[in-house]
Amino acid sequence: MPKVAGFYCSFRKNSNSKALLEFFLKGATGYDVIVFNLAGIDVSACRGCEACFVNGKCVIEDDMCALYPLLEDADYIVVSLPVYFYGPPSAAKAVIDRCQPFWFRSFVKKERLKRKKGCFINVGAGKGDNMFVASYYIVKVWFNSLNVSMDVHLKFGDLDKEGAVFERMDIIKKVGNAGKEFFSQKA
Ligand SMILES: Cc1cc2nc3c(=O)[nH]c(=O)nc-3n(C[C@H](O)[C@H](O)[C@H](O)COP(=O)(O)O)c2cc1C
Repeated sequence: MPKVAGFYCSFRKNSNSKALLEFFLKGATGYDVIVFNLAGIDVSACRGCEACFVNGKCVIEDDMCALYPLLEDADYIVVSLPVYFYGPPSAAKAVIDRCQPFWFRSFVKKERLKRKKGCFINVGAGKGDNMFVASYYIVKVWFNSLNVSMDVHLKFGDLDKEGAVFERMDIIKKVGNAGKEFFSQKA
């Protein structure tokens, strides 16, 4: 059964990004789906010690130990984040930075990690498109280090209040359809 790893990052009960992740994942019926809230886990900042440049493993022991195999073995990775100061929330950025072992293995050791299909959903309060640019590139280089293709990128502004997305049937429908299409393609 194909494995799907879904990530969001919000402390809100009625999180907009979590809701959109869930609507997207409805398309993964019958798949082995795991969802992680990056805001609720214990992941310290990357120390830049380069210990992972020895054997491709991080020396810090925290919740990343559970995430590493998931990020490596999934067939589909779906990430849904809010915009915080034009970038990803710091808890999500900590997870991204701690993927330096994957970067080392992919680009220094030239290991070919398992190919995965990827989707990135981004929500913010503002109305323009600029606020999504930094997160897009950050997640794109993260995906590159994991050998995840950026097959779908969805971004929605004008979503601020908790649960605001539940009043936007147009967005819910679009995300649901995108999820069906995404999971209908083989990883
Ligand atoms: C610390 C913080 C920084 C934020 N920075 C931005 C921003 O730069 N641009 C923007 O459009 N929205 C910004 N927002 C608004 C959130 O992106 C928005 O409320 C989003 O819907 C939250 O998603 P969630 O419900 O999944 O937590 C910020 C919110 C917080 C708490």
